[in-house]
Amino acid sequence: MHLKIALLEGDGIGPEVTVEAVNVLTAVANHGGHVFEFLPLPIGGVAITAYGKPLPDHTLATTLQCDAALLGAVGDNKFNHLPPSERPEAGLLQIREALGGFANLRPAIAYRALADNSPLRPEITEGADILFVRELLGGLYFGQPRQWDRQTGRAHNTMVYTAEEVERVARIAFHLAAQRPKKKVTSVDKANVLETSQLWRSVVTEVAQDFPTVTLEHQLVDSMAIHLMTRPRDFDVVLTENLFGDILSDESGVITGSLGMLPSATLGGKVNLYEPVHGSAPDIVGTGKANPIGAILTAALVLRHSAGLEAEATLIENSVTDILEQGFRTSDIARGNGEANLPGQRTVTTAEMGALILDSLNGKLTRAEFPIPTLQV
Ligand code: IPM
Ligand code: MN
Repeated sequence: MHLKIALLEGDGIGPEVTVEAVNVLTAVANHGGHVFEFLPLPIGGVAITAYGKPLPDHTLATTLQCDAALLGAVGDNKFNHLPPSERPEAGLLQIREALGGFANLRPAIAYRALADNSPLRPEITEGADILFVRELLGGLYFGQPRQWDRQTGRAHNTMVYTAEEVERVARIAFHLAAQRPKKKVTSVDKANVLETSQLWRSVVTEVAQDFPTVTLEHQLVDSMAIHLMTRPRDFDVVLTENLFGDILSDESGVITGSLGMLPSATLGGKVNLYEPVHGSAPDIVGTGKANPIGAILTAALVLRHSAGLEAEATLIENSVTDILEQGFRTSDIARGNGEANLPGQRTVTTAEMGALILDSLNGKLTRAEFPIPTLQV
């Protein structure tokens, strides 16, 4: 297996966490005789500084030649004065659009070892395993027209969806749900107020007809925000439009214990785009406090969705679980403000966490601790 991976480290903690993702991917390549070629390319604030724009032409052109793109984070407060179209985030939105992936998968799992980390009681989060499928190329993020008219003091954005855009992402959500034990899709909208949501609900209901084994329910986004915190275990695949998914997936970091734990994969376009859900966290750059687990779990998704290496993806995920069970914590997931001496807990830096997971993974790869493949009948 030869994979060319665009490495879009970006801003803030992006480079610090991405290197840990690269390390686990390289370990898998070395053990399996694969070649993963990484092509570092600028995006976001670093690209504005070096090339005057957040998505330089050669970054996009080269990424389009790759088999997958692995992104760290974008965003830098020093560009806060710029209009949205010139900020680092614009580079991310441009590359999402150009790569064409419309289905953004954001798994949120309640790790047993982190049960005491969530402000939610363990009996609420225990066993929660949610897969958000966020529509990524439509809605308010891309709808035209959009404008802030400083003269008149009026601004507008446009929330727009076509039936086709809803259908294609809904099909992916149902397809994924059909393969999961609970086989349930919760579609999120605001159909009591928005026409776009009424379209959303009607298209999703039609798509459901093609997936008789999957149960469909609809939830309004406001009450869904509560249900996620009060009964997260009741959900399986959660299908949302772009902005609702942005908000609810951050919220689900509470279930997992930290936003720093969440990975994502964007499928359906020319090149799959992989990025942790967290941002560039400029306040902790260089402190060793960044949690690399979101990026490492994102690397597992690269193997699952772009390399067909499901067993290796699972080994990475199991290594993360093992290291958490052993009590190792970055400061965002440590109890007591990251005090290293709490019983059963050892606070480590970004690089130490990466090395621990890498060690555990190397051990599993060497012992060929592969999960028994499921029998296909
Ligand atoms: C995310 C981020 C991005 C988004 C920003 C950085 C443009 O918050 O991936 O969730 O809003 O999609
Ligand atoms: Mn977000």
